[in-house]
Amino acid sequence: MTDPKTFHVKSFGCQMNVYDGERMGELMAARGLAPTDDAGAADLVILNTCHIRERATEKVYSDIGRLRKGGRKPMIAVAGCVAQAEGEEIVRRAKVDVVVGPQTYHNLPELVAQAAKGAPALDTDMPIASKFGALPNRRRVGPSAFLTVQEGCDKFCTYCVVPYTRGAEVSRPWNQILDEARALVDAGAKEITLLGQNVNAWEDDGRSLHDLIRALDRLPGLARIRYTTSHPNDMSQGLIDAHRDVEKLMPFLHLPVQAGNDRVLKAMNRSHGRDSYLRLLDRVRAARPDIALSGDFIVGFPGETEAEFADTLSLVDEVRYAQAFSFKYSPRPGTPAADMDAQVSPEVMDERLQRLQSALNRDQHAFNAESVGRTCQVLIERRGKLPGQMLGKSPWLQSVHLHTDAQVGDLVEVELVRADPNSLAGVERVRLAA
Ligand code: SAH
Ligand code: SF4
Ligand code: F3S
Repeated sequence: MTDPKTFHVKSFGCQMNVYDGERMGELMAARGLAPTDDAGAADLVILNTCHIRERATEKVYSDIGRLRKGGRKPMIAVAGCVAQAEGEEIVRRAKVDVVVGPQTYHNLPELVAQAAKGAPALDTDMPIASKFGALPNRRRVGPSAFLTVQEGCDKFCTYCVVPYTRGAEVSRPWNQILDEARALVDAGAKEITLLGQNVNAWEDDGRSLHDLIRALDRLPGLARIRYTTSHPNDMSQGLIDAHRDVEKLMPFLHLPVQAGNDRVLKAMNRSHGRDSYLRLLDRVRAARPDIALSGDFIVGFPGETEAEFADTLSLVDEVRYAQAFSFKYSPRPGTPAADMDAQVSPEVMDERLQRLQSALNRDQHAFNAESVGRTCQVLIERRGKLPGQMLGKSPWLQSVHLHTDAQVGDLVEVELVRADPNSLAGVERVRLAA
C-alpha cells in the first residue's frame, strides 16, 4: 500500500464525534493530504464510529463493505467509539488498516504511515496526557463551531457504553479552552457550542462551566454561546443563573431524563428522580422563562411495564419539550442492563416509541407554532434551496428560512411568520452588525 494523497472523514454519533472528525481532518491536512467529499474516490477513508446502539455499530461493517465494492482498496481507518470498544476485533473481522480510539487520534498520521508500509496499526490506549495539546490549530470553520471542553463519563448509567468507550470524566484546562475559542472566532465562528458527555461537570481549579460561559461572554466577535450535553445532577445554581444574566447564552437546554418513572430511573442508575428533575426545570424556567427544553428518552428499558412507560408520557405532558430525541433500548455488550431479566419485546418497544414520538412531535409543533409572531435574531448558517433563500438558527435552535441578501455568518433580526413541520419561515427586519 502506498502513502495516501487524499482523505475523507465520515463521522457518526454525537457532536463530540463530529468535533473529533474535524480535528482528525485538520491533522491529515497539516500532513499535506487533500480532503475530498467523495468517500468513493479517497485514498484514505476515516470512519469515525459510534457504539451507542447496536444499529450504529453495525453501520461500520456495512460501510466498509460498500467502500470495497468493485474491487477498490482504499486505506480504511476506523476511529471513534466502536474502535475503542472492539479494537483488534475490527482488524480480524474486516481487515481494516488502522484502528484508533477517541483518546489517541492525535497519533493518526503516524498510524497511517505505519499502515502504508503494510502492517495494520492499532492504538486504543487511554493515556493520561491529553491529545489536545498535540492537535494543530483550528483552520477555517463555519459560523457555528463546536469546542470540546470535557470528555468521558463517571456516571455509569446501566445501559450506556460511553464510560467504557470514552473513559473517565476529564476537563480541559481553562486557558487551552479560551485559546481555542479565540482561534475559532478568528477562523469565522460567531457561535460556539461547548461540548462534553457531561459538559456541566466541567471544572478547573474551582471554576465551573458558568465561569467559562461568563469569560466567553467577554470574547470580542463571539455572538452566541451554547453547551451540550448536561446531566441533571451537575446542573448548578450558578449555571441556571447564567441563563438569566448572560445575554449571549442562548435560551436552550438539552437535559436528558431518559424515563419518567422512579423505579426505572433507579434501575438505570440515573441518580436523579422524576420529581427532582421536574423541580430543576422549574428553577431553570424561573431564571429564563422563554427557554427551549430538549431531552433524550429510552423506551423499553428491561422490566419497564406499561404503567411505568405511562409515567414517561405524563412527564412529557408536564414538561412540553421544544424538541427531543427518543430511542428504543438497545442492549450493549458489557453493560449491566444487557444482563437484566425481563427484556422488553421489540413489538412493545416499537409501539411505545411511536406513542412517545407522537407526543414529542405534538409538543415540538406547538412550540414552533407559539414562536410565530416573535421577533428574534437568526444566525445565517448556509444557503437554502431557492434563489435568495438563506437558512439559519433562532436562539431556540429552530431552523429558520428567509429571503435576504445577508451572508453566511451574519446575524439578522427576523420576525417568525409561519411554522412549517420542521422549520420556521422568517421575514428580515434589521441587519445587525456582525
Ligand atoms: N451523556 C449524555 C448522552 C449520552 S448518549 C447524557 O447522559 O445525557 C445519548 C443518548 O443515547 C442518551 O441520552 C440515551 O438516551 C441514549 N442511549 C444511550 N445508551 C443507549 C442504549 N443502550 N439504548 C438506547 N439508547 C441509548
Ligand atoms: Fe451514558 Fe449516563 Fe454517562 Fe450519559 S450520563 S454518557 S447516558 S453513562
Ligand atoms: Fe456514540 Fe461515542 Fe458519542 S458511542 S454517542 S460517538 S460518545
